[in-house]
Amino acid sequence: MNTENTHSSHHRLKKGAPVYDAKAIFESTPAPYLILTPEFIITAVNDAYLHATATKREEILGRGIFEVFPDNPHDPKATGVKNLSMSLKKVLATKKPDRMATQKYDIPVAGQPESFEVRYWSPLNVPVFDEARSKILYLIHHVEDITEKVLSKKHTDAIEAEIEERKAIETALSEAVRDREMFFSIASHELKNPLSVMNLQVQKQLRSLERSNVEKISIEEIKQTMEGIQKQTRKLVSLVDEMLDISRITSGKLELNLKDVNLCDLIVEVVNRLIPQFEEAKVSPPSIELCQESKLLLDPIRIEQVLTNLLTNALRYGEGKPIIIRLDSLESELRLSIKDHGMGIVKDMQDKIFNRFERATETSKGKGLGLGLYISKEIIKAHGGQIWVESEPGKGSTFYVSFS
Ligand SMILES: Nc1ncnc2c1ncn2[C@@H]1O[C@H](COP(=O)(O)OP(=O)(O)OP(=O)(O)O)[C@@H](O)[C@H]1O
Ligand SMILES: [Mg+2]
Repeated sequence: MNTENTHSSHHRLKKGAPVYDAKAIFESTPAPYLILTPEFIITAVNDAYLHATATKREEILGRGIFEVFPDNPHDPKATGVKNLSMSLKKVLATKKPDRMATQKYDIPVAGQPESFEVRYWSPLNVPVFDEARSKILYLIHHVEDITEKVLSKKHTDAIEAEIEERKAIETALSEAVRDREMFFSIASHELKNPLSVMNLQVQKQLRSLERSNVEKISIEEIKQTMEGIQKQTRKLVSLVDEMLDISRITSGKLELNLKDVNLCDLIVEVVNRLIPQFEEAKVSPPSIELCQESKLLLDPIRIEQVLTNLLTNALRYGEGKPIIIRLDSLESELRLSIKDHGMGIVKDMQDKIFNRFERATETSKGKGLGLGLYISKEIIKAHGGQIWVESEPGKGSTFYVSFS
């Protein structure tokens, strides 16, 4: 027989009924409990509560609960004191237990009165009555520390948000990869065209050189071949330039070299440079109907590129009819318009043609990559301006560029 058994049998023998030390048992109950007077003074506290709140029994007994556990002064949203006091008052008034919603009630860190530790609690307040069950003697304040649960829920939410974000990035990436694949296949196809044409021209010339006397070949014939090759070379250069621009735009490296520019002068310059191309196509060059004086901060090379694309489009798709340029100085903006009288663009394509590789009709295939307007839009956007089209199929299109 060991001493412990002797001890407990001694208790049983003495009282004749199971004897227990209520205080010792209460203090060792595994869940946190605090006993308050109806005036909210702490009269008893168990070890679990002391442990959970990092407090010491002798420091808190006899003190008001709100004095011991004030709101975290560093958390302006703290409502712990108000919620707890409301719940305790409710128990006193209704004489019924009250379970509180999850509370964020940070507790002071032991030994560091200025620091608070984040805690979430699920509190339950229960009345203790006298024998007649009429008067409330005490309030039991029971709390469950659910900080880990709450934080792990927050953690799960954060993980879920991260997963969503990753999914979005993945979609964007696979779209970018698809775009790139499309870009390569279209670009290489388009690049091959001028190369094959050039190859044919060179072959033809070589064959005629092999067949006949060199003297018999006219300068005119050679000139023609050379011009043909030059045309294809230009086409290649412009395709490669477009591809370079696309890669600059997608990598965010479209840099502007801004200068004070007279837009009117720039328009005249571009039109003059394009005259040979119009003559070759037997189309009269664009006429400048109005060009109001305008000094602007622009990247002249980039704006020239936009003008060139709009004017070559007007040439390509304008069916040889007149092309009219205007530069209007409106109240709050400078508005450039390039009007043709060609095939026009159907309504639902009018926005789409500004996207990459979008061509309004099958007939525009082989004429270009469908990148000119996309690049133009990016350039105008980078200048803080706008570009759009108004068009009626069969009657023609007017492209507008505005700078405010
Ligand atoms: N003035 C216009 N009239 C009718 N359709 C036009 C006109 N300008 C552009 N489009 C349509 O919009 C499409 C896109 O034009 P965009 O300049 O982007 O490409 P592209 O001229 O086909 O090729 P790129 O400019 O890359 O050499 C054209 O293929 C054409 O279908
Ligand atoms: Mg174009």
